[in-house]
Amino acid sequence: MRTPVIAGNWKMYKTVDQALDFLNTLRGRSEVNGVEQVLCASFVSLPTLIQATSGTEISIGAQNLHWEEEGAFTGEVSPTMLNDIDVSYVIIGHSERRTYFAETDEAVNKKTKSALGHDLIPIVCIGETLEEKEADRTQETVRDQVAQALDGLTSEEATRVILAYEPVWAIGTGKSATADDADDVIRFIRKAVSDQLDPQVAREMRILYGGSVKPGNIDSFLERQDIDGALVGGASLDPDSFAQLVNAAA
Ligand code: G3P
Repeated sequence: MRTPVIAGNWKMYKTVDQALDFLNTLRGRSEVNGVEQVLCASFVSLPTLIQATSGTEISIGAQNLHWEEEGAFTGEVSPTMLNDIDVSYVIIGHSERRTYFAETDEAVNKKTKSALGHDLIPIVCIGETLEEKEADRTQETVRDQVAQALDGLTSEEATRVILAYEPVWAIGTGKSATADDADDVIRFIRKAVSDQLDPQVAREMRILYGGSVKPGNIDSFLERQDIDGALVGGASLDPDSFAQLVNAAA
């Protein structure tokens, strides 16, 4: 049985004070067992959030990392810096980084290996663009992204990876994929993982859906046995919504 994950991707929102206000409002509303609750905040908020969530059910993640431990990489943050402040998770390869910051599949693979090598749990994002969907290239796209992201990983390492299928056309649009379509693609992804690594990894790996997930549609995704939770943007910014999403997964 795979433990469900509800992860919030706050993107470039919330100052440190706003993040603390979120936690103060959330407190006591998402105290459920058996659900991995993750908040992935901006780098500037991480130390404060990690201290504020100590001893709670909430884990804290980053939204990116560099694969090197140190170096002349202006503006970047290393895995050792995330270790230094006890970050637990890290989002890798989000479509916004692939689009706006030219993040390649090769970089995603390096970052994934580096995260695993530093005991961080990578949440690796994959998903097709609207153009690829309309060209009926969804399966080709996600199969290639998975293959490159997991290339060179051992089965033990791959089992620690959380994949997040996020169709790019559903991100921030209010138009999520249907649960049927999300389930079809995630089952395809799980089969691709089984073929690339082994069936046991595919059985154990968590695969999330992301793209306009809200309290009003989360149940339709969670009731699918192959969907292990959600990576949520907009709806994770509100503590009441985030609590509803977590309680739905319990
Ligand atoms: O990483 C999750 C994010 O891309 C989804 O955003 O606002 O569609 O839930 P949103």
